[in-house]
Amino acid sequence: MILSFKGVSRCKTRAGKIMVIELNEKNIFTAGELVRAGKIVAFPTETVYGLGCDAFNSHALARVFEVKKRPRFDPLIIHIASLDTLERLVDFSRLSMAAEQRLSVLGRALWPGPLTLVMPKLKAVPDLATGGLDTVAIRFPAHDGALRLIKESTGAVAAPSANPFGYLSPTRAEHVLEQLGDAVDLVLDGGPTDIGMESTVLDICGDVPRILRPGGTPQNMIETLTGPLAAESPGGGGKISSPGQLTSHYAPSKDLYLHTEAEMRRLAFPEDNAAYMFFNQASFEAFAVNNNIPLGHTDRYKRFFILSPSGSLAEAAARLFDTLHTMDALSAGPIHAERPPDTGLGEAINDRLSRAAAARTHRRLAQNRDLPGGGSSGSGWLLE
Ligand code: TXA
Ligand code: MG
Repeated sequence: MILSFKGVSRCKTRAGKIMVIELNEKNIFTAGELVRAGKIVAFPTETVYGLGCDAFNSHALARVFEVKKRPRFDPLIIHIASLDTLERLVDFSRLSMAAEQRLSVLGRALWPGPLTLVMPKLKAVPDLATGGLDTVAIRFPAHDGALRLIKESTGAVAAPSANPFGYLSPTRAEHVLEQLGDAVDLVLDGGPTDIGMESTVLDICGDVPRILRPGGTPQNMIETLTGPLAAESPGGGGKISSPGQLTSHYAPSKDLYLHTEAEMRRLAFPEDNAAYMFFNQASFEAFAVNNNIPLGHTDRYKRFFILSPSGSLAEAAARLFDTLHTMDALSAGPIHAERPPDTGLGEAINDRLSRAAAARTHRRLAQNRDLPGGGSSGSGWLLE
């Protein structure tokens, strides 16, 4: 699709041409008009880029599912820019007093921010947006451009991450272009995202709130406000309360192997054509020393990536998807990745890495199923 607005740049993609425009006041206005007209627009948030449309427009919602190749039962998050909008989305009559109290405490302390709250939905919210569930996930992003776009649109923008279902989330406009090509009506380019990790999804409906997807708001930050959370419900099997819990998700197309710090440092190099993602400089140096790679010469391999030289979990989270995108585009593969410490944002990073590694197993199962005499009971639909 080619749109022609004044002052915008056109980018060539593999799939054709698409409009990518800088995130500024004028272009946000244009993007808002498009959303109001039922179009779909990719835009940055503080976490990852979203693929936004009017949350009340079923045609536009259907297109978002189609473009992402996302199963219809996997609900979208609705983004708001004002607390008043909750009245149009949430059925407060089905929210317990305790849950309403939690909404108030969490909203005041952590909104706007990378926290999505699941609450009972009003009938007016299209079932398509919520995957047929009677709850709705709501997020108030901490990103000026996103908030202005939501306000310019209809005040309620449904937006999944702007990537094909099951693939790595986009943290730059280029990722959206590469992955979705011209299937999107417009991309607002606001540069790389700050947090780089999707929002934490928290169900506040039950007696005890429960994290459905670890993300940009660490569990301990929530618990200081709510008290202890319910244990995370296991992915796979039984009823899926949040499809973000699927074991195989957030995956590069290459096989990814996950290692503890000790394992990573002991890995033998060169493994045929592999690429390596270290958590910090110390791990990388230990690996290099173990493999007799002179530290001054490691650059020439072009296969070593360090998420955060100083070992900062925030920096590692911000760089995770971008690094995996880069590694996925290399001729080298598979990917060996080190688990960072499982605290704070490390929980969300390890969640994404585990799911990326699980995709490898699922791919094998799917391949075996196609072979004569193969056949596994693996969940094929995980492999969009
Ligand atoms: O940071 C983010 O959350 C990004 C940006 C764009 O806002 N969005 C995002 O959306 O990651 P998406 O669609 O990729 O992931 C939404 C997650 C999915 O795992 C979905 O299953 C879950 O939220 N979800 C949405 N509505 C739900 C509901 N009513 N109940 C339980 N889980 C829900
Ligand atoms: Mg996503």
